[in-house]
Amino acid sequence: MLRLATLTMILPLTLVGSLAMSSENSVTLTVPAEGSVSSEAGLEAWTRIHQVASHPRCSNCHVGSDHRPMWSGPSYGRTRPHGMNINAGESRIGAETIMCSTCHIHTGDTGRGNEQAHAAPRVAADWRLPPVEAAWFGRTSEEICAQLRDPERNGGRDFIELADHLGHDVILHWAWTPGGGREPAPYSLQEHVNDIIDWGVAGFPCPQDMTEDNG
Ligand code: HEC
Ligand code: HEC
Repeated sequence: MLRLATLTMILPLTLVGSLAMSSENSVTLTVPAEGSVSSEAGLEAWTRIHQVASHPRCSNCHVGSDHRPMWSGPSYGRTRPHGMNINAGESRIGAETIMCSTCHIHTGDTGRGNEQAHAAPRVAADWRLPPVEAAWFGRTSEEICAQLRDPERNGGRDFIELADHLGHDVILHWAWTPGGGREPAPYSLQEHVNDIIDWGVAGFPCPQDMTEDNG
């Protein structure tokens, strides 16, 4: 409980009442009143967030310091590092060897061009790996949960900024509409954003907190 209390203190305490914002991609942020989401409900939201984060449409990019994107999920048959000897390097965009954008080209704003199976996915932004701190591939629910609630490793964002960022992210829009026979991430972007907010309002409960409380 001590840990949860500490985390609550670093949250902005402006969540009185309900605040609604709409983003240009029609993802709505609705923040329930402080104290209105129980830890149990927050943990259920976390379970769904984890199902999304560990899905291949997310974890294939969220890899660690070997800088190697992954090919995994039903459309790939087996789990293996990206073919073609791709390594994103410390730049995380392949600047040291071959740029991701050589194959993962910009769509412009059309968002189109992902219809063909086994073609390189493309979005209306630079295709690249997230920072090493946000590595999720092969990690447990507990580890990913600890990463995402840690401002040192989540891009310094509180959960409302996180939810808003996700709502605007073209890569996430792709992850739910990948095309080309790829399996979309589970739930929907709106549901994922709602879950992030509920999890945050509940004080970022992680599975390991429950174990610690009981022990
Ligand atoms: C093409 C690679 C790629 C894919 C696929 C991808 N991401 Fe990311 N992700 C990134 C990059 C790059 C950043 C850093 C961008 C930033 O912080 O502005 C990032 C940052 C994030 C962050 C910010 C917090 C943190 O810990 O740094 C979250 C949360 C996130 N992604 C969630 C997801 C989810 C959920 C999915 C799947 C639905 C997903 N990502 C799929 C590349 C990807
Ligand atoms: C030589 C062309 C080429 C380059 C360069 C390249 N890729 Fe790819 N990438 C592909 C192709 C083709 C696929 C899809 C393969 C398939 O579906 O069988 C792919 C798929 C992926 C996937 C899996 C997406 C998913 O979930 O289905 C990720 C992640 C990825 N690339 C990341 C990167 C990153 C990061 C870089 C730069 C460091 C990069 N790629 C550079 C050709 C390339």
